[in-house]
Order: sequence, then structure tokens, then C-alpha cells
Amino acid sequence: MKFFIDTANLAQIKEAQDLGVLDGVTTNPSLMAKEGISGEKNVLAHYRAICEIVNGDVSAEVISTDFEGMVREGEALAALDEKIVVKIPMVKDGVKALKYFSDKGIKTNCTLIFSAGQALLAAKAGATYVSPFIGRLDDISTDGLGLIDSIRVIFDNYGFDTEILAASVRHPMHIIECAQIGADVMTGPLSAIEALLKHPLTDIGLAKFLADHAKSNS
Ligand code: G3P
Repeated sequence: MKFFIDTANLAQIKEAQDLGVLDGVTTNPSLMAKEGISGEKNVLAHYRAICEIVNGDVSAEVISTDFEGMVREGEALAALDEKIVVKIPMVKDGVKALKYFSDKGIKTNCTLIFSAGQALLAAKAGATYVSPFIGRLDDISTDGLGLIDSIRVIFDNYGFDTEILAASVRHPMHIIECAQIGADVMTGPLSAIEALLKHPLTDIGLAKFLADHAKSNS
């Protein structure tokens, strides 16, 4: 399972990269705004900075919602670095743009996926990744993980190459359950990734080892 970090914060990206488990980064317009990044020049420079830190795919989202605009923006983003994956929303023109970029060999991530039908359509259009938002489905009392499961079955039935990128991951159990279902990738905050390493018995066990070592070496 690939681990992506869902942030535009350079310090957090660097921290996850230094941990040695990072396979890529996802961003979105809200995450870019959170870092105070605005204006085309600054946005492009920020993506370049992210690409310098990570060894893996970096999803950069278009703002346009029409086909021509998505193509224009997506081509400019893809030209920045070969790590860039053009992130496209699940709208009608977005499906056309997925096909356009797929035909040109440019990687895409279809975002804002909330149903298996949307995922199937994106895969048919040649998306490299589909991003089902599991946390936001859970937020409205809907089964986010169930959606990952349905998409897994469909993609396996037909041998789609499109990777399932579980997005809107909020906590370590989301990651573990996505891994059990067979999501190809998960993207989440640094806190969810770091939470995987914590267990109280590990802390207790380590304290005991160190105390015993100190006793026998005093
Ligand atoms: O990047 C898309 C997705 O991961 C957003 O997550 O927490 O805003 O629902 P969240």
C-alpha cells in the first residue's frame, strides 16, 4: 500500500519524507489556501518545492471546471515536473479531460469521488488514480470504507489499472481498514501516519528494557 500525505505544508511533507515511508503527496485548493499560497506563479513555485522534497507522485489540482480550462491548467502543471499528477474533479468535462490526459500519457487523479459509479466512469476514462473521500462519507453517516470495498470489487472484476487512492483519511483505523480491503494508496494527515507507530505496550516495554539495562550497568 502506498502512503501519500494530504497536505501542502512543506515542513510536514519533509517530516513524512524523512520517516522513510512516503510515496507521494496530494494537495487540493483548500490545502493550498491553508498554507497561504495564492496566485498562479506562487502556486506553481510551491508545487516545484514539493516535488523537490518527495520521490513520488504529487497531485496538483486544477481550478477550472470546463474542459479547455482543465487542459490548459493541467498541461502547465504537468510541465513542472514528471512527478506531477493532474488532479481533476468528477464533473462531465473532468471525465473528458481524464481521457485527454490519459491519451497523452499524463497521469491523473480523479477527485471528489463519492460513489462506485463515479469511480467506474473515471477508470473507463483512463484515470491513473480515483480518490474516494471516505472521511466525508463517514461525516454524513454513510459507509466510506464500504465504498472502497465496492470499487475494489469492480476494478478487480475487469482488471482496471486505475489505482484506488483512499482520500479524506482521518485516523489510523481508516488506514488499517483500507489496507485490509486492498486500497492501492491512502492519503492522510501526518497525524494519522504517525499514529500507526503508537502503542502503550511498546512504551511500557521500552521503559522496562531501558530500566533493566540501567540497573545491570550501574
Ligand atoms: O485531498 C482530498 C481529501 O483527502 C480531503 O480530506 O479531510 O478535507 O475531507 P478532508
